[in-house]
Amino acid sequence: MSRLDYVIVLAAGEGTRMKSTTPKVLHAIAGQSLLGHVLTAVEALAPAEVRVVVGAGRSLVTEHLEEISPTAIAVVQEHRGGTGHAVQLALAGTEVKGTVLIVAGDTPLLSSATLSQLIAAHNEGGFSATVLTAELPDPTGYGRIVRTDNGDLLKIVEERDADEFERAIEEINSGVYVFDLSKLHRVINQLTDDNAQGELYLTQVIEIMQAEGDRVVPILTPDAVEILGINDRVQLAECAAIMRDQINDSFMRAGVTLVDPTTTWIDTKVKIAADVTIFPGTALFGSTAISEGATVGPRTTLIDCEVLANATVLESYCIGATIGEGASVGPFTYLRPGAVLGTKSRTGAFVEMKNATLGEGSKVPHLSYVGDATIGVGTNIGAATVFVNYDGEAKHHTEIGDHVRIGSDTMLIAPISIGDGAYTAAGSVITENVPAGAIGVGRARQRNVLGWVLRKRKGSPSAISAVAAEAAQAADASSEKGI
Ligand code: UD1
Ligand code: CA
Repeated sequence: MSRLDYVIVLAAGEGTRMKSTTPKVLHAIAGQSLLGHVLTAVEALAPAEVRVVVGAGRSLVTEHLEEISPTAIAVVQEHRGGTGHAVQLALAGTEVKGTVLIVAGDTPLLSSATLSQLIAAHNEGGFSATVLTAELPDPTGYGRIVRTDNGDLLKIVEERDADEFERAIEEINSGVYVFDLSKLHRVINQLTDDNAQGELYLTQVIEIMQAEGDRVVPILTPDAVEILGINDRVQLAECAAIMRDQINDSFMRAGVTLVDPTTTWIDTKVKIAADVTIFPGTALFGSTAISEGATVGPRTTLIDCEVLANATVLESYCIGATIGEGASVGPFTYLRPGAVLGTKSRTGAFVEMKNATLGEGSKVPHLSYVGDATIGVGTNIGAATVFVNYDGEAKHHTEIGDHVRIGSDTMLIAPISIGDGAYTAAGSVITENVPAGAIGVGRARQRNVLGWVLRKRKGSPSAISAVAAEAAQAADASSEKGI
């Protein structure tokens, strides 16, 4: 890999067109901030030092930077003075020799492969400056590349400062540059603000270097998509869609079936094994990892989940959950952090589970809440069971053994434990531990008050039906007796 001493990331701009209280470079696509994408690409080049120029929203940007890239150095630019001013600040205290890469913080599609080729070309050619350029059908808004007769770079003209001929040039400045540090140091303080914006333009260093006889070379990228920058939310969505397609294509080529890649959104850090099938409308976020043979979706969201081999997750929303080998989730299950489903276990419709372990082969098939619990193997939790874990002040644990049968509509008032092989009667409110092999019955004995409807709801449809039923019964009885 070609030697790289410094990277300067320009990220002090206002980003006003985002119309957001969030600084532009903190907006995210594919689960990573724009700045995060740029840093991931440049850190792959193993530079000795990364400096990020921060300005607008700098406390938030700096905080984020410390989180995602603690070794990067934030350089504060108090007021917008232009890209040249930002680089002047960033160069303070750097070595006077070496190679520096300059990129913007809002170009998330830049790949480390492209950057590394640019740096290699720069170092091998021994150039003073190397600029990544692109040809765009609509170059509006970009600086135009004016080449010399031999194809070198004569100067970069900003749109606002360009004449009619320069404006017609389709080759634009991507805003990605590699410089010889000593040459850049020599010219960076010669910048002037006699331009349409009254700012110090970094691009002016090109013509100064040219005039001083330095070799300045433009390198045209074959893939113009990579240099796309984000200025508003339309471009944010466009870049997100491009990245989605890139991510999805690479998973499909690696053996993952995506039934509908246009409605499948996968974050950059997600891992998916071969022979996984993802159905439409599925979002896989954060650190989610899916093992071979698993099936996910349709319409499923997994955030920071682990799905083991051959499991199935159908129409569900899961965050921070582990789904065991061959386990089955959904449709319509809500798994929350700390939900751990054992091998071949099952959670079904309208089941919510958090901070709870479900043993091998155990099932919570319908309409239940399971919170703060350990459930053994081969156990069945009947429909509409609630693990009553919260007394209004503290959360309490429920322990359920192996091969337990919890009857439908059981309220398990925690802390409580149900021994191996025990049962609870349907409709029970269980407040005391149930020993192994016992049945816990915690409900009032039923009594029938005969004739209540006839007395209290005289003339109602219920009473009329009841009278008719009595009459029919009496008629049956008499015909049996042969009357
Ligand atoms: C710049 C280039 C233009 C190029 C385009 C590519 C200049 C003068 N022009 O124009 O040739 O085609 O990028 O996208 O450099 N920034 C700071 N501090 C400042 C000003 C800007 O940190 O004082 C940062 C911004 O946050 C942004 C980057 O520098 O990340 C580029 O600034 P921007 O204002 O977007 O420059 P453009 O006008 O787009
Ligand atoms: Ca820009």
